[in-house]
Amino acid sequence: MKNVLITGGAGFIGSNIALRLIDKGLKVTILDNLSPQIHGDNPEVTSSLYKKIIGKVTFIKGTVTSKEDWIKAIKDQDAIIHLAAETGTGQSMYEIQKYIDVNIGGTGLMLDILANSEHQITKVIVASSRAIYGEGKYECTAHGIVYPTERNDSEMATGDFSCKCPVCNETVTILPTTEDSKIHPTSVYGITKQNQEQLVLTVCKSLNIGAVAYRYQNVYGPGQSLLNPYTGILSIFSTRIKNGNPINIFEDGKEIP
Ligand SMILES: NC(=O)c1ccc[n+]([C@@H]2O[C@H](COP(=O)([O-])OP(=O)(O)OC[C@H]3O[C@@H](n4cnc5c(N)ncnc54)[C@H](O)[C@@H]3O)[C@@H](O)[C@H]2O)c1
Repeated sequence: MKNVLITGGAGFIGSNIALRLIDKGLKVTILDNLSPQIHGDNPEVTSSLYKKIIGKVTFIKGTVTSKEDWIKAIKDQDAIIHLAAETGTGQSMYEIQKYIDVNIGGTGLMLDILANSEHQITKVIVASSRAIYGEGKYECTAHGIVYPTERNDSEMATGDFSCKCPVCNETVTILPTTEDSKIHPTSVYGITKQNQEQLVLTVCKSLNIGAVAYRYQNVYGPGQSLLNPYTGILSIFSTRIKNGNPINIFEDGKEIP
């Protein structure tokens, strides 16, 4: 394997992967629309992520919602790491069509091309998310392992932020969410991530292309976009601390829902 396409490769995870692959002697092509929410309005100046990779990769400024851009990007590639996505869980609850178009539609276009055109792709890696597990895994003293749904507004209004057993409505204790936990996304973003991985794993299997879905959770580190208000909690906390601002902690801080 020599040529790797990384969609969303100007982003936080993609740019780090790109530099690693280049170190290993692979040739990297990136398809990225340099979304202003992440890179600012003038990426050459405002995006440290973009500045890190430019000149080291073949860069295609384009979108995963365009078939033409995909065709251009897939040409001569051996593998695809598909990271390009709309990534804000909260934002996905009101920009619903955009999340479906980019995350599910973009993945659909890629798979359509792999199914219907000549290519040499032998491996696809897609970025899924912990968000597919919704509220995650809990234990009820009476009912064992349970998977609560969203918490109740009226209980939260009284200061009760705990998750409840879906069977008896008693307060449950949080457990680590293991890979085999129940998949029950509670956001449009989570639904699109579940769909992306189902699409890639199902279609690639039928095409005899190796496929893997990674369910990332709160990946953070140097260079992560601090412009994006939907970026992870750790970058929001660290930015506020560095600027001498207090951290806003909601609810009672006892449980991480
Ligand atoms: N960072 C995390 O904690 C985390 C957790 C779970 C899943 N993920 C997933 O991992 C992937 C990468 O995340 P990240 O943290 O590097 O995000 P990021 O926001 O830093 O990077 C995403 C990149 O995709 C590009 N992009 C957005 N829409 C595009 C489009 N229509 N066409 C082409 N490019 C587009 C953006 O310009 C950006 O460079 C995403 O699919 C995300 O859902 C990340």
